Amino acid sequence: MIGFSLSHDELLCDGASLTAIAEAVGTPVYVYSSAVMRARYRELDEAFADHPHAIHYALKANSTLAIARLLRGLGSGADANSIWEIEVARRAGFVPADIVFTGVGKSLPELECAVALGVKAINVESSGELARVEAIADRTGAVARVAIRLNPDIDARSHPHISTGLKVNKFGVALGEAAALFASLDHRKALELVAIHVHVGSQITSVEPIQRSAALVARVAAALKQLGRRLEYLDVGGGFGISYDGGEVPTLTDYAAAILGELRGIDLPIVLEPGRSLVGPAGALVARVIDLKRRDGSSEFAVIDAGMTELMRPALYNAFHRIEPVQPRSRPERQYEVVGPVCESTDVVGRDRRLPRLEVGDLVAIRDAGAYGSAMASNYNRRPMPPEVLVDDGAWRIIRRRQTLDDLLAMES
Ligand SMILES: Cc1ncc(COP(=O)(O)O)c(C=O)c1O
Repeated sequence: MIGFSLSHDELLCDGASLTAIAEAVGTPVYVYSSAVMRARYRELDEAFADHPHAIHYALKANSTLAIARLLRGLGSGADANSIWEIEVARRAGFVPADIVFTGVGKSLPELECAVALGVKAINVESSGELARVEAIADRTGAVARVAIRLNPDIDARSHPHISTGLKVNKFGVALGEAAALFASLDHRKALELVAIHVHVGSQITSVEPIQRSAALVARVAAALKQLGRRLEYLDVGGGFGISYDGGEVPTLTDYAAAILGELRGIDLPIVLEPGRSLVGPAGALVARVIDLKRRDGSSEFAVIDAGMTELMRPALYNAFHRIEPVQPRSRPERQYEVVGPVCESTDVVGRDRRLPRLEVGDLVAIRDAGAYGSAMASNYNRRPMPPEVLVDDGAWRIIRRRQTLDDLLAMES
């Protein structure tokens, strides 16, 4: 059984006991299943098998070195969102030609570094950024490989905070400006346009926005071909949603069929930038109940030792994560507001959850926390970042130790 499964009344990860991991490493702790990451990567790769493609794992979802290395080992490239993610990618073994550099605000030092490295593409977000890349390349005698990120004005119908494809969103070049930008490239010898890029949002749970953005990319690529401009590939972004509540979402094959259906007749390879869909379901945040108290007539607060500092998604986007006891016991169910220890009322991990009666000391697993979990953790309230554990074939190892207060204070004088 791969991933998280119950056996003899205990939740396991790839066969390893979450209780044993929590006892050994302490709580809170992130636990990841290597088998789930491998399975998701293969599923995506197979879904696109009919079209030449390259998967560039979006490091922003989780850039812990061992996870980046695992994905590289499967054949993935990287999508980095800052110069620091590029450096992490390189330390994980990705070479610059495997890395696309995305991000709405790249500073001059970041652009200088990316041009010098010669990454696969700098995904440019504005005409100003294109000019800055050109100036750097000109000055250093390089030819910078660029992709233009288009803002297709498509509603991803995801949470507004993770929708990026509408023209009111800060991302990409407006379609109305794109033609002039493409035309200007005829005379800009320090720039090589290798691709066009779209990414309309994250946690997209219907195929339609992804299909529409693939259709747009196909239309623009065909128009550019007519003008004699040959691209190297098309970057169709990431954003494939996962099921956080157990409900149905499109499969990776559904997303692939929607994209490939629009690319029929386009003889260019594609780049994909998936993050959440590869690592989200592979992780759980394991926490311990540290207090229980009455809330109102019908529910109680269960205070756990993980909150918005470890997993920001519920506080930030009202995101839903399943919460399960690690050792489910046959106790009567109760209604809980599962809250973290942080001094903010928004620090609620799960609202109105029915769980078998909890006791102080019980362990709970917050599921599907592999993406945008540890990567978004903070030190608010001086809370040290939790450790991360990777399970492979029943054996587990710490891939990031727990941060200490000394780690934090080492930066201060
Ligand atoms: C440009 C870009 N590519 C890829 C991703 C990865 O998205 P996801 O984790 O939803 O696949 C993101 C995240 O929103 C992004 O901004």
